[in-house]
Amino acid sequence: FEKQGKRPYKQRLLVVANRLPVSAVRRGEDSWSLEISAGGLVSALLGVKEFEARWIGWAGVNVPDETGQRALTKALAEKKCIPVFLDEELVHQYYNGYCNNILWPLFHYLGLPQEDRLATTRSFQSQFDAYKKANQMFADVVNEHYEEGDVVWCHDYHLMFLPQCLKEHNSGMKVGWFLHTPFPSSEIHRMLPSRSELLKSVLCADIVGFHTYDYARHFVSACTRILGLEGTPEGVEDQGKLTRVAAFPIGIDSDRFIKALELQDVQKNIKELEARFAGRKVMLGVDRLDMIKGIPQKILAFEKFLEENSNWHDQVVLLQIAVPTRTDVPEYQKLTSQVHEIVGRINGRFGTLTTVPIHHLDRSLDFNALCALYAVTDVALVTSLRDGMNLVSYEFVACQDSKKGVLILSEFAGAAQSLGAGAILVNPWNITEVASSIGYALNMPADEREKRHRHNFTHVTTHTSQEWAEMFISELNDTVVEAQLRTMH
Ligand code: G6P
Repeated sequence: FEKQGKRPYKQRLLVVANRLPVSAVRRGEDSWSLEISAGGLVSALLGVKEFEARWIGWAGVNVPDETGQRALTKALAEKKCIPVFLDEELVHQYYNGYCNNILWPLFHYLGLPQEDRLATTRSFQSQFDAYKKANQMFADVVNEHYEEGDVVWCHDYHLMFLPQCLKEHNSGMKVGWFLHTPFPSSEIHRMLPSRSELLKSVLCADIVGFHTYDYARHFVSACTRILGLEGTPEGVEDQGKLTRVAAFPIGIDSDRFIKALELQDVQKNIKELEARFAGRKVMLGVDRLDMIKGIPQKILAFEKFLEENSNWHDQVVLLQIAVPTRTDVPEYQKLTSQVHEIVGRINGRFGTLTTVPIHHLDRSLDFNALCALYAVTDVALVTSLRDGMNLVSYEFVACQDSKKGVLILSEFAGAAQSLGAGAILVNPWNITEVASSIGYALNMPADEREKRHRHNFTHVTTHTSQEWAEMFISELNDTVVEAQLRTMH
């Protein structure tokens, strides 16, 4: 370990997440190229200087041959990443199946799959078995790389079975688990056939974290109602053993966005976009193309706004960046066609020979292009039907210090609890309300925009991702020490 200031050595942190922070592309039998992806979690942990972090996760590609696996392991080691190799069938059952067809929709209040109840019930068990098998494979890799004193931080709904696998192998391991999605009301969680097994496993962690206080409260209720355990202000107690449960709202690396706006390349891009959309107000949506993001509802609300405000027809444009995701899951394929159909209809209805009201892109933008787009936006629309936190809202705010644009934000995104006073909060299911909020935002006077922006900007620049990670880990360390003291008394 590297020597450092207040602690004699940096503490090692093993971050375990389904996806590694790099994507791998195979270039030859034993050669790979890697690209760091800049998700919220990655930038959060890159900024944490107090720990020496290693990542353990699935590289997102199928590598059936040993030569390829050896070469990829070597390439990833340079980025401090350790791969878990999952074969295609396991990915299908565990990732596409149990994670993204069962847990993801359920945790976002979209229910369980219903098409063919019998088939679903039958495949449910095999998908859950695959989920447990995959979680055990992650645990095996953690155990192989674990050194005494390490902190193990497990992330998200893909790895709910991991805390139990880890503690069964080594009860002294310091384990934290963090959920990046909402944890739903206990009445929703009750529907899950494997409801108890998952809760019991998560409770094996020393500390369990959520983005909002409500999610933490729902989790504690599920443990009391479904498992009959005792909920305390600190967490959940089972026969004298306390699992700490708390809210740790994530943030972004705001400096990274603010600094990017000064880059020549970004400034040039901003000028081009301003010229391109001169005379029109720019509205922006940036989402993974996921049913939880409420993209069809957002576009329908925009259509309603156009219907009711003919004076705005040539004066406003909606740019919707829809990043393709989980494209092997049928629900996501259906959503893509549905969105294309609605966008086509609205552009046909309100477009002219030279302009269209909606520019819809089925792809992601690179970081600099995204910053430029955030900076020229007048109104950002985040209309998730449910969302753990939603960091797009934070990124938009970080890039708006000169423009002071307006954020329309779903009350069902975790971010509504922190940016509530600065944003215009909406119920995304209420298309009439969203349409009138669009009108309100486009007409908002400068002093109100300034006031709302100031509130949001202060929050986003003071509650950063680094602070989030440091708080979680120091709370995990403290929880373990307190537990040791309790057992000594
Ligand atoms: C959400 C989840 C993450 C996940 C991300 C992208 O934010 O909470 O765990 O990595 O979506 O989804 P994907 O399935 O592409 O990893």
